[in-house]
Amino acid sequence: MNLHGTMSINEMGNLEIGNIDTVNLAKKYGTPLYVFDVKNIKNNINNFKVGFKHPKIETEIIYASKAFLTIGMCKLIEEQGLSLDVVSGGELYTAKKANFPPNKIYFHGNNKTIEELILALNYGVNKIIIDNEYEIELVNYLCTELDQNVEVLLRVNPGIEAHTHEYIQTANNDSKFGISIFNENICDIISSITDSYHMTLKGFHYHIGSQILDEVSFIKGIEVMMNFVKKIKLTCSYETKELNLGGGFGVYYSKEDSELDLNSCLKNMLSEVNKISKENNITIPKLLIEPGRSIVANSGTTLYKVGATKDTFGGKSFIFVDGGMADNPRTALYDAIYEGAIANKMTNENTNEYTIAGKCCESGDIVIKTITLPKADKNDILAVASTGAYNYSMASNYNRLRKPAVVFVENGKSKVVVKRETYDDIIRNDTL
Ligand SMILES: Cc1ncc(COP(=O)(O)O)c(C=O)c1O
Repeated sequence: MNLHGTMSINEMGNLEIGNIDTVNLAKKYGTPLYVFDVKNIKNNINNFKVGFKHPKIETEIIYASKAFLTIGMCKLIEEQGLSLDVVSGGELYTAKKANFPPNKIYFHGNNKTIEELILALNYGVNKIIIDNEYEIELVNYLCTELDQNVEVLLRVNPGIEAHTHEYIQTANNDSKFGISIFNENICDIISSITDSYHMTLKGFHYHIGSQILDEVSFIKGIEVMMNFVKKIKLTCSYETKELNLGGGFGVYYSKEDSELDLNSCLKNMLSEVNKISKENNITIPKLLIEPGRSIVANSGTTLYKVGATKDTFGGKSFIFVDGGMADNPRTALYDAIYEGAIANKMTNENTNEYTIAGKCCESGDIVIKTITLPKADKNDILAVASTGAYNYSMASNYNRLRKPAVVFVENGKSKVVVKRETYDDIIRNDTL
């Protein structure tokens, strides 16, 4: 297993994160357990701050909270000076409860409800990212009713097939997100916002997909979008003030992933915008990005306790862990590949090939399809790396499993930021 962030191996041969023995973490807080390496989150944020800077263009980094959000995470993001992208009433409510400054919140979603929009308008979010024509009408209507004004970006679809899993491509021509840049009524759509007394259109947003590991897709996105910005200036007389380039920066999960050079990617994206702007005599005063996964994925590790092991008649060796697809649906959903290790046997030789399966009543409840590990025994602690993004946030109560606790670790200290669910939490909303 690749050691990420502050991971190290101590003299007992155990995995440490944030200078804490993970075997002790498992003992203290129970398993399954999501462990977050706070120093690594801060380092990842800093890499974005260093890389996404340009002498001539204002820049802003917005954390895409769908990757992982809790009140504690909101506080960390605020402390690190980033803005927040929320995509539902629940994410917005979490931010509100954390007193996250509303003027740093961007509200997304392809089907925001009236209730969610009212919540966003009442909280005074910085911007609403409009996805479709119905939403233009709806936001205008609600602003009129509430006698309120709001700044908006229009989400557009540049029609790009990013090199990633089809479920996380978001900008091919049949994507459900945004309005196509090739829509023949695009000038009318823009006017329906700019003509509104209550809405100020600051510019456009696009996002080509997630877990993208080649810079080429990002640069292609910029070329297509800058062309659009130019066309809109000429044909619709609309000058873009802000362009939100979305997130999607890919991370290392396994040896199969070629690593994205983030610093070079960010620098090249900025220079591409600058170069095309100059060539075409257009000015975009402000650029924004929305990374989620790249800030938290490699900062999260899930600890499980090993229960049974089983050799099947067909020749497969299973390790059964006390969690599975309920706390990490990504393997079942996207064929995601994870690395892992036995946290109490880090210096033992990897001799046995295993499949790591969870405890849900589904054959598809697999955490890692194939992994070579030291011989596993009951009560070993299995660590699965890079589970910080889209694990806790996508967790379910399937089979009425309780969602695990989330612990932040840093400099030898640990703190619970989300308590483990109890059986009472499981039945809390049941009525007779
Ligand atoms: C609009 C938008 N912005 C940002 C993100 C964050 O993407 P990632 O976590 O890959 O950086 C997503 C996720 O797909 C998204 O849909």
